[in-house]
Amino acid sequence: MNVEQILSQFQATGVESCFHDRHINPQIYAGLNGRNWGIQDYEARGGYAALRKILGKDGGEGLTQDQVIATVKESGLRGRGGAGFPTGLKWSFMPRQFPGQKYLVCNSDEGEPGTCKDRDIMEYNPHTVIEGMAIAAYAMGISVGYNYIHGEIFHTYERFELALEEARAAGYLGDNILGSSFSFQLHASHGFGAYICGEETALLESLEGKKGQPRFKPPFPASFGLYGKPTTINNTETFAAVPWIIRNGGQAYLECGKPNNGGTKIFSVSGDVERPGNYEVPMGTPFSKLLELAGGVRGGRQLKAVIPGGSSSPVIPAELMMKLTMDYDSIAKEGGSMLGSGAVIVMDETRCMVKALARLSYFYSHESCGQCTPCREGTGWLWRMVDRIEHGQGRASDIDMLDSVAGNIMGRTICALGDAAAMPVRGMLKHFRHEFVHLIEHKTSMVGGDATAVKTHG
Ligand SMILES: Cc1cc2nc3c(=O)[nH]c(=O)nc-3n(C[C@H](O)[C@H](O)[C@H](O)COP(=O)(O)O)c2cc1C
Ligand code: SF4
Repeated sequence: MNVEQILSQFQATGVESCFHDRHINPQIYAGLNGRNWGIQDYEARGGYAALRKILGKDGGEGLTQDQVIATVKESGLRGRGGAGFPTGLKWSFMPRQFPGQKYLVCNSDEGEPGTCKDRDIMEYNPHTVIEGMAIAAYAMGISVGYNYIHGEIFHTYERFELALEEARAAGYLGDNILGSSFSFQLHASHGFGAYICGEETALLESLEGKKGQPRFKPPFPASFGLYGKPTTINNTETFAAVPWIIRNGGQAYLECGKPNNGGTKIFSVSGDVERPGNYEVPMGTPFSKLLELAGGVRGGRQLKAVIPGGSSSPVIPAELMMKLTMDYDSIAKEGGSMLGSGAVIVMDETRCMVKALARLSYFYSHESCGQCTPCREGTGWLWRMVDRIEHGQGRASDIDMLDSVAGNIMGRTICALGDAAAMPVRGMLKHFRHEFVHLIEHKTSMVGGDATAVKTHG
């Protein structure tokens, strides 16, 4: 078995890709068919026009660094990696006059359960990431960049390498890009699949060849990043959005979405839907519309609940979810959850919430890097407690204990993985406490099935 065959065993299956006509006003996935990833097809779709525009290569005067950053600020683009931090503002933190090396890093680690949007971007539209990074590098005065790609999608890494070679040959990367004074060297790198390496400072450690463990913050990467130098890190989808913004203007991008939530967003819809896959729709699209695009709930069943933004985001019950729109503000302020990475996990009426939480808690316990006690010990406690409830061995005191352990993890760790493990627990207890109580009292799941029949983990 070669390396690729071994790695392919770990790849996600069963999720339809981005090739369908059920996007709404797509920008990143527009016109893709799986074969047109190369540079000529990208240029035919308007690719690299934004880079040419800022460098003044198509007749215009070009854009200054300040103008590029102002355009991105105006667009309302918020980081697509999970936290939704305003991208233009982040770029303005880069100390452009710093005399030494500065770095640009793309976070393509994409390990959040349910999330599979970045791999489609890199595999089927890699040049939009390259162009977005080149524009970002220009705006922040950076001459070296890296794209850190999740290790389990090795073929995507190889595709990205091919795209880099094309971009270098065409003069879009390297020294004196398109004959200008701007130079930018971009390289691809890959990890080996640890979820924690998606946390930006763990990623930097891994990129430096060390064990991928998060750093204490402050200092933040803008002042102490890769090799201790000023560094800006953005998600793959964030960079991929930039060429459209520069071509069409910040205001046009903002108007595609809703105030404070500019542009389109890619949602990885999975779980109990007829057509799981990646869907690019304007920010502010009603969840009910997204569900319809994904073919509705599988088998005509009733919707029970939705995890709206990747496994760390608290679950939202169906009734509330059907009233929300898919943007940072609606999901946070009205839904009490997070848009996160945009991984929408749909659960129908047959799903046992205790079992769902057991699966999530196992994941976080497994992925904790072990540096801080509340996370290292607490994630294991959470999993073991939910696991025993699931298997009919729960105690009446377990529910309060679960809440207490989750509360003692939150805000007490070096990185946000601790919070990410605790928030789903609190969300499930808030909305589906009765399922936990039922399983403890009756030893059977409310949705049917013998609690002791199947024990999934150790
Ligand atoms: C445990 C953990 C895992 C993360 N995984 C990812 C990831 O896979 N991809 C990503 O872009 N951001 C991930 N993030 C968020 C990054 O730390 C960082 O905020 C993001 O890359 C910044 O890019 P953005 O501003 O464009 O969103 C993760 C954060 C944590 C705490
Ligand atoms: S919170 Fe967890 S994953 Fe993050 S540094 Fe601490 S132990 Fe590691």
